[in-house]
Amino acid sequence: DRSIKIAPSILSADFANFGQEIRAIEDQGADWVHVDVMDGHFVPNLTFGPPAVAAFRPHVKTFMDVHLMIAPVDPYIEAYAKAGADMITAHVESGPHIHRTLQAIKAQGVKAGVSLNPGTPLSTIEYCMDLLDMVLIMTVNPGFGGQKFIHSGVDKTRKVREMIGDRPIHIQIDGGVTPETAPLVAAAGADVLVAGSAVFNGGTVDTPEVYGKNIRAI
Ligand code: DX5
Ligand code: ZN
Repeated sequence: DRSIKIAPSILSADFANFGQEIRAIEDQGADWVHVDVMDGHFVPNLTFGPPAVAAFRPHVKTFMDVHLMIAPVDPYIEAYAKAGADMITAHVESGPHIHRTLQAIKAQGVKAGVSLNPGTPLSTIEYCMDLLDMVLIMTVNPGFGGQKFIHSGVDKTRKVREMIGDRPIHIQIDGGVTPETAPLVAAAGADVLVAGSAVFNGGTVDTPEVYGKNIRAI
């Protein structure tokens, strides 16, 4: 379904070739570029500081979707906005003040997303709706690519679709998205699918057509 956007996660790209990897996925039909920021504290892995994200920026022609898996998050929002994020998504679990965090993201003039871990109920975002451009439903416990899809996210997607009503808020799914799981969340109302291993597996910057084939299969 081409009304569904695909956002490849460059967590599964070749870390020595980000510029070429971004060009390859965009040439092959990626709608957004998903950047997974991890701090070794909120999640048990470490990835990209603001200077790395700033280095990606000139290569991204589509939309740079920055997923912050860091706590505390508020002290870093300005830096990631200045690095060139088009959207910043923060986790509701990253601190006690998600509403203030979302206000701080909007104050930077970028789009705001909120993310929920698989164990976190939707009630935590009920009073944030007026600040949101996107809700990110995690279908793995964040930290690593290549994990197995957690199926309770399908029901959660259906419920968040009801909560959103006619507001212009995207529903993004992240974790274990494959040609098998993508139709389940799309049918439940998701419109942006993040995929790391399902896009990059089997390809390299020298065989970008593999990425295209993988994107079209999702
Ligand atoms: C998980 C990250 C995801 C991850 C997805 O912590 O937020 O974006 O890279 O990878 P796959 O698609 O391989 O599950
Ligand atoms: Zn992510």
